Order: sequence, then C-alpha cells, then structure tokens
Amino acid sequence: MQLHVDNDSCQGHARCNAVAPEVFELDDLGYVSTASGEIPVALEAQAKKGASACPERALKIG
Ligand code: F3S
Repeated sequence: MQLHVDNDSCQGHARCNAVAPEVFELDDLGYVSTASGEIPVALEAQAKKGASACPERALKIG
C-alpha cells in the first residue's frame, strides 16, 4: 500500500500522529513530516486510521 502526503493541505492538526505515531511523524512546527511512499504491511491498519483522522484529507492511502 502506498501513502500519499499532500503537504500543501496539511494544516498541522496533528491528529494523524496522535492516532498513528509509528506512521506519521511531525516536524518542529507540528506539520506532518512523513514522506509519501510504501507503507509496511504491519503498519497498514494504523496508517489507514491516521489518514482518516486528518480533517484536511491531506493523507491518502491506496
Ligand atoms: Fe497535517 Fe492532517 Fe496530520 S492536517 S498534521 S496531516 S492530521
């Protein structure tokens, strides 16, 4: 599964990190710093929950 991070849409709500800290890291300003790319199978469920928690829909899993 692939993660696509839309950094332009991220507004720093940090909910992704609260729900899925092993997948979504934040920078010093609280914006998501995880890069787009392949998600390890073991983290897929967590990644989906974190992406769903973003109110800006900045995180896509597919
Ligand atoms: Fe940004 Fe959404 Fe996470 S706004 S910090 S990607 S919850």
